[in-house]
Amino acid sequence: MALRDDQLKWNRRYREAEGRHERPEPHWLAQRWRHLWAGGAMLDAACGLGRGIAGAQGQFDPIYAVDLSEVAIRRARGLWRDTPNLHWVVGDVAALAWPREVFGLICAFGFTDLRFFSRAPEMLRSGGMFLSEGFSSRQLEVKPHLNTDWIVQPEEMRSIFSGGRVLECTETGGPPYRVAFAAVMP
Ligand SMILES: C[S@@+](CC[C@H](N)C(=O)[O-])C[C@H]1O[C@@H](n2cnc3c(N)ncnc32)[C@H](O)[C@@H]1O
Repeated sequence: MALRDDQLKWNRRYREAEGRHERPEPHWLAQRWRHLWAGGAMLDAACGLGRGIAGAQGQFDPIYAVDLSEVAIRRARGLWRDTPNLHWVVGDVAALAWPREVFGLICAFGFTDLRFFSRAPEMLRSGGMFLSEGFSSRQLEVKPHLNTDWIVQPEEMRSIFSGGRVLECTETGGPPYRVAFAAVMP
């Protein structure tokens, strides 16, 4: 699916849920690994309504939240309006220029893009953490037409973060098949 089609799809989904949007619960990966957080800047990649923010609020400053869907960003802005130093960006997070060695935390929940993941280690500062959860290749057994760009193999994640310490790299045992990943940079 082309990026523009994906954007339209997500805009439609967020519009359809109009009036039912709430602040998301923190992701379980954030709750599990927060004791190792080093602080600093944070990036919620493909933030949607801000699941990454929900886990990291008060621990990181500034926070950057990026999503392809301008409808999601509009809704999320309203949900998080009392959070200081929160910067919203509508765009393709993988296509944006990001500084090196700046982020204390990068989250990518419900989003897989190996172009972006490959850049994440150099974007993290020393002690910075990467958390993600996305479809594994086994999800093709359930959804054969799933875009393979949205799939990640546990080995690929280990290889991308080979310069860091992998804290978690687990695949769910049943559908939907997902890879949960956490790594921290030295
Ligand atoms: C499954 S939702 C996850 C939202 C949020 N992270 C969560 O866990 O609730 C996927 C989100 O990824 C966004 N997205 C898809 N491709 C993107 C891209 N290339 N750059 C930024 N956001 C993207 C969609 O607009 C959508 O909001």
